Amino acid sequence: MFTERGPTVRELVVQALSSVERGYDLLAPKFDETPFRTPEVFLSATARALAARGGYAAGLDLCCGTGAGLRVLQEVCRERVVGVDRSAGMLAVAAASAAPATSLVRADALALPFRNAFDLIVSFGAFGHFLPHQRPTLFAQAHAALRPGGLLAFPVTAPPRVGSAGYWLLWGFDTAMRVRNALWHPPFVMYYRTFRLPDVRAELTRAGFTVETPALAEPGHRPDGAPHCRLVLATRR
Ligand SMILES: C[S@@+](CC[C@H](N)C(=O)[O-])C[C@H]1O[C@@H](n2cnc3c(N)ncnc32)[C@H](O)[C@@H]1O
Repeated sequence: MFTERGPTVRELVVQALSSVERGYDLLAPKFDETPFRTPEVFLSATARALAARGGYAAGLDLCCGTGAGLRVLQEVCRERVVGVDRSAGMLAVAAASAAPATSLVRADALALPFRNAFDLIVSFGAFGHFLPHQRPTLFAQAHAALRPGGLLAFPVTAPPRVGSAGYWLLWGFDTAMRVRNALWHPPFVMYYRTFRLPDVRAELTRAGFTVETPALAEPGHRPDGAPHCRLVLATRR
């Protein structure tokens, strides 16, 4: 799963026993060598789907990490690209490869310093860091940061079939996290199985969005024919 330049097991253990912010600060220099960085196929499929809907003036990458989604925004935004993350270490890595006009802001996604500022917000691979009861605040913050008619877009992969190897992998990860968080402080919140599309659709609707979930073609289909990934497109009403 990790390349030779990725973190060692010892480094991963130290990071996992830290807070989310500190853990990512430590992981940042090697983050792009881990499977936690959003794979290219999801980024390019999202960029293509967004470009097909038209151009955007200003875009925000929410929980931008080392900048995976910033390049998506560079492709589809004409005027302004901003990345937000809570980890200074991740932002420092993002800054090293960001396009010159990109702004990087250290902030909590649950308390964004923006109002009516963006036509497009994207986010990749970060929503497992929010507990279900935090999502109404997360979506309300995105809603307030968008201009009316603005779009919040993020890909969601289909949950693995119950009983498959992928199912047990995610089940094992989430269970290990729950045990870790019951025994150790500060918590490291990252759960894969709490972000369910039907719940998320309902929460986005309640937050004031109109929601579509088209399939993304490029990541392919599961053996049962269902799309592997959908793009959540939530338009601020
Ligand atoms: C798995 S990484 C994903 C990074 C990048 N979006 C990608 O796809 O490669 C999750 C990121 O979310 C950030 N994050 C977690 N909780 C956050 C919060 N409450 N506010 C802002 N950023 C947060 C972490 O610092 C980390 O950079």
